[in-house]
Amino acid sequence: MSVQKKARTQPPGLYVGTDKHRWWKEAVVYQIYPASFLDTNGDGWGDVPGITKKLDYLKDLGVDVIWVSPIYKSPQADMGYDIADYEDIDPSYGTLADVDNLIKEVKKRDMKLVMDLVVNHTSDQHAWFLDSRSSKTSSKRDWYIWKPAKYDADGNRQPPNNWAMILGEANPAWTWDEGSQEYYLSLFTPEQPDLNWENPDVREAVHDVLRFWLDRGASGFRMDVINLISKVQDFPDADVVVPGNKYQPGDKYFANGPRLHEWLKDINRQVLSKYDTITVGEMPFVRDEDEIIRVVGAESEELNMIFAFDLVDIDNVPGDFKFTLHQWDARDLKRIVSRLQRLMLERDGWNSLFVGNHDQPRSVSRYTDDSDEWREIGAKLLCMMQTTLAGTIYVYQGEEIGMRNVPPSWDPEEYKDIESINFFKKNAEMYPDNAEKRAYARKVMQRKARDNARTPVQWDDTTHAGFTSANSKPWMRVNDNYTYVNVAAQTSGASASTSVHTFWKRSLEYRKENKYLYVYGDFELINPDNDTKNAAEIMAYRRWSKDRAVLVVLNFSGKEIEWELVNGMKIDKWIAGNYGEVNLEEKAKSASVLLKPWEGLIGELE
Ligand code: NOJ
Repeated sequence: MSVQKKARTQPPGLYVGTDKHRWWKEAVVYQIYPASFLDTNGDGWGDVPGITKKLDYLKDLGVDVIWVSPIYKSPQADMGYDIADYEDIDPSYGTLADVDNLIKEVKKRDMKLVMDLVVNHTSDQHAWFLDSRSSKTSSKRDWYIWKPAKYDADGNRQPPNNWAMILGEANPAWTWDEGSQEYYLSLFTPEQPDLNWENPDVREAVHDVLRFWLDRGASGFRMDVINLISKVQDFPDADVVVPGNKYQPGDKYFANGPRLHEWLKDINRQVLSKYDTITVGEMPFVRDEDEIIRVVGAESEELNMIFAFDLVDIDNVPGDFKFTLHQWDARDLKRIVSRLQRLMLERDGWNSLFVGNHDQPRSVSRYTDDSDEWREIGAKLLCMMQTTLAGTIYVYQGEEIGMRNVPPSWDPEEYKDIESINFFKKNAEMYPDNAEKRAYARKVMQRKARDNARTPVQWDDTTHAGFTSANSKPWMRVNDNYTYVNVAAQTSGASASTSVHTFWKRSLEYRKENKYLYVYGDFELINPDNDTKNAAEIMAYRRWSKDRAVLVVLNFSGKEIEWELVNGMKIDKWIAGNYGEVNLEEKAKSASVLLKPWEGLIGELE
């Protein structure tokens, strides 16, 4: 980031009182998807020693906390989100001793480790489930959700209701167990049976899992689909919203259920409150503001913050399944961003700021233009948005170098994710002879599949991008562009000073130096109305603390735009932008300013 620093002292008063300042609000969290981060033993699969090896790199970037996606023992049906033992590490990642060493090294650098807590469900290979399915009279039977079959008019066996499986919409959310002759609920895949949280023994066992990791030195949890733990207990059929589908989205009944808050408060009181932690709950299917504040409000005693899905659902056809393409523009972005910013300021909650993770396509591809011409500018634009909003920052591995989606030319066989495999299968079954539909499916996958985020991190331009040794085979194909999109090229050599990586590093530094303004300051959207000029292209907002204010203008379009500064607004100085410093000097400071394609600017206001 081309930042011209101003010699300013801290503001005398703060918008958010210092009694509300918390380390986890100021932290930069970096998500590691371990299978694709760095492989140190040559098996083509990333590992825990690989994470330890890169801690200095992360520290240098400005990272305070690493969140590691699941590394527990797992058959990997859903890449570790199917846990077979919460208190052991999968051999493909290493050992508990490796994790102890990671924690030691993290602490040495004054950083923290966040574990992924996946307790809505376990693996079907977890000892609890093996016991539960062994017979209807097992003492663990009601640790999971079992129901008898229904029968249709022709006497065919049917699941207890019409809910669709989340990672395979053509299938039911229930799995038939031949041995004990009942269905169990498995919202994600048959290999991920849902735990029955109504049972107090299950809740106690989960509390023990949290204690196990906190006592070992972890500093908190990212809680996987935590708002799915409480389900409506009569398990009604979902409304038909996707005609022609036998199974329907059932989130109305399995998300944000009646006992969610009771159980989150329980976790907080019995476990979290006894440690100094950072917590973030992944919460899909939640729009209701009261519901959000009940979880993250300062007085709520539930979680610090949540991952809301509004921004990453921006290109889904509303009400439909995920693999759809919906055209969006800056008006949608503004509505989503400003709603959450204002909500947290007005009702004393806290935001998480993220535009990517292991379940989403690459942010530079989704929100900007990832062509060679615009990729760097686009990645820097997103960085500007992230680092100038209020909330805790989450950077997803590779985002700091502007990694992009897999190329459109890749065959379906290159996609390894169970969700993608299920989707291609459904499509092939539905349209065996329709080339157009098959081509469309490939297009949607290239835009939306989770695989896009899961290709190995591109460390350098050697074979396999330095992710694994030259003679190994990476578990997933490396993105073809690694020869020029890689960490080495962006951190040393001729183009390092203007790279996406350097921009991220400086932006994080700048945000921390100006935390009263950017982390804790107030927020106001400029031109909130959808019919103002350039509403579909520009998102602009004002951030301010007690004695200073900045304007952030972001051009979310590939067009050049003359943008009018509203209400006589005047810029004292343009202080940062994604086109470099020289460019800032040319910019007008009043009346209107010319923005290049995908250009972002920060200006100190008079
Ligand atoms: C959300 C996780 O992020 C995703 O990867 C996983 O498939 C589901 N939850 C199920 O655990």
